Formats: sequence, C-alpha cells, structure tokens
Amino acid sequence: MRLEGMVAVITGGAEGMGRSTAALFAREGASVVVGDINTEQGASLVAEVEAAGGTITFQPCDVSKEAEVAALVATAEDTYGKLDTIFNNAGISQPRTPTCEVTEELFDKVISVNLKGTFFGCKHALPALLRNGGGTIVNNSSVAAFANVGGNVSYASSKGGVMSMTRVIAVEYAERNIRCNAINPGPIDTPMQQRSRAKATDLDAHDKAWRDMIPMKRMGTGDEISEAVLFLASQQSSFVTGIGLLIDGGRVAT
Ligand SMILES: NC(=O)c1ccc[n+]([C@@H]2O[C@H](COP(=O)([O-])OP(=O)(O)OC[C@H]3O[C@@H](n4cnc5c(N)ncnc54)[C@H](O)[C@@H]3O)[C@@H](O)[C@H]2O)c1
Repeated sequence: MRLEGMVAVITGGAEGMGRSTAALFAREGASVVVGDINTEQGASLVAEVEAAGGTITFQPCDVSKEAEVAALVATAEDTYGKLDTIFNNAGISQPRTPTCEVTEELFDKVISVNLKGTFFGCKHALPALLRNGGGTIVNNSSVAAFANVGGNVSYASSKGGVMSMTRVIAVEYAERNIRCNAINPGPIDTPMQQRSRAKATDLDAHDKAWRDMIPMKRMGTGDEISEAVLFLASQQSSFVTGIGLLIDGGRVAT
C-alpha cells in the first residue's frame, strides 16, 4: 500500500490515463476524488473501484471553470479531511490543423482546458496542501512540450505552458514542503488516441507513422503512466521537484 492514508484529487479521471491512475491510487490505499465532464464514465469508475474495495468520490467538474475546480478540492477536504496530492490530468487534443488555419475559438478552447484548467487545479490545491503541511502536484504535460509532433500549435503551446508552470510552482513552494512535477507522455493508447485513430483514412499508414516515431515501436499504456504518476505523487520521489518526466518510449532521445 504505497499511498496508505493519502487523499488524492484527479481531474479528467473518468477515462484514459486519469482513470487508470484513479484505480491504481485506490488499490494503493488512497481515498480518491475524481472530477470529469463525463459523468457516465465517472459512475462506471466509481462502481469498478468500490467493487475492488477502494474509496472514491466522483464529482462532475469542467476544469476550465474555476469555481468547479475549487469545489472539487473542497470536496476532498470536506469528505476525507485533507488533500495530499492532485493529478492535473484533464486535457483535450487539437485536430491536426495548419497553424494559419487555427481559429481563435479552437486555440482558446484547448488553452482553457489544458493550460487554464491545470492552473486552476494548482491554484486551488496549493492552499489545501499548505493546510496539510505539504504534499505533491503532478501535472500532465506531454512529449509535445519537448518535441515537435506537428499540426497542433494550440496543444503544444498549452503543454509547454504546463511545463513552465510546473517549474514556477516547484521553486515557489519548495521550502513549504510542496513538490510540483510534470509527466510528459509520448503516444499512449487511451480513448484520446483511439478517437484520432478512428478518423484515419489509412489505418496501416497511421499505425506505421506512430511506430516509426517511437524507438520502442509501440504506444505506451495507461498503466505505464499511472506508475510514474504514483512515483511523483508519493514519498518515493521525496527529493524530486520541478521536473518533466518523459514517458515516451525513447521519442525525445531520437
Ligand atoms: N494519449 C496520449 O497519447 C497523450 C500523450 C501526451 C499527453 N496526453 C495528455 O494526457 C492527459 C490525459 O489524456 P488521455 O489520453 O487519457 O485522454 P482521454 O481523452 O482518454 O481522457 C481524458 C479525460 O479528460 C476528460 N476531460 C476532457 N475535458 C475535460 C474538462 N474540460 N474538464 C474535466 N475533464 C475533462 C475526458 O472526459 C476524459 O475522461 C491529457 O492532458 C492529454 O493531453 C495524452
């Protein structure tokens, strides 16, 4: 039980890597509060975790709305008495679009969820972590903060911003026992990737393009991400702050 007695908030936890992280955290003894816009999958996650003997609360939450993120953190403190860690994970992709064709509306939408949503998560978790005497923040950035994936200017900008935000918060709160780190996943086989695959006209070419980009010749799994998040969220990483942990099958090393 690597998270025994801990209280965790996870945004975007109804599906994908947020969901696998919520399930792992609960298995490892944490009480987990999940916020997401997908209430149907949120309910199915609660049923799955509770059936396995875990402790979990789901709350509808759109991370681009500050009051809803504040309410999510408040639920953790009100229900379980404290907050030890937050995984700011909710995010959306940008359909591949030439930069000069990206509308203001599309740019604003991606930034609102990925960058502003992460900011709201950090902003509202910090006072709760200070009341707790310390804790951890893990932000979900992307390999796109370090390497060009192409055709996704709003997404890459948002994830670069998340990386910079992580460093600012890490330094600002380092002496107050709060550590702030990011993960930088490469392509991970989640519903986000599956939706983009479903739009491909030539599936073989689509899959080959991804394999060719990754030295390990495969996508990562949600479980491979969750273990890294657990490391950064827990005392196992007690001298680690301000980093971006690449989990990318070697992509950035090429
Ligand atoms: N899948 C990848 O290849 C990949 C790679 C690098 C980074 N990431 C990042 O990892 C994170 C999780 O991605 P995933 O692949 O698991 O995606 P996913 O689409 O499978 O799951 C994302 C979850 O976030 C929720 N969500 C979306 N908008 C939200 C909002 N406004 N408020 C609250 N919840 C919201 C969705 O409902 C969903 O449950 C994202 O930040 C994504 O950008 C993904």
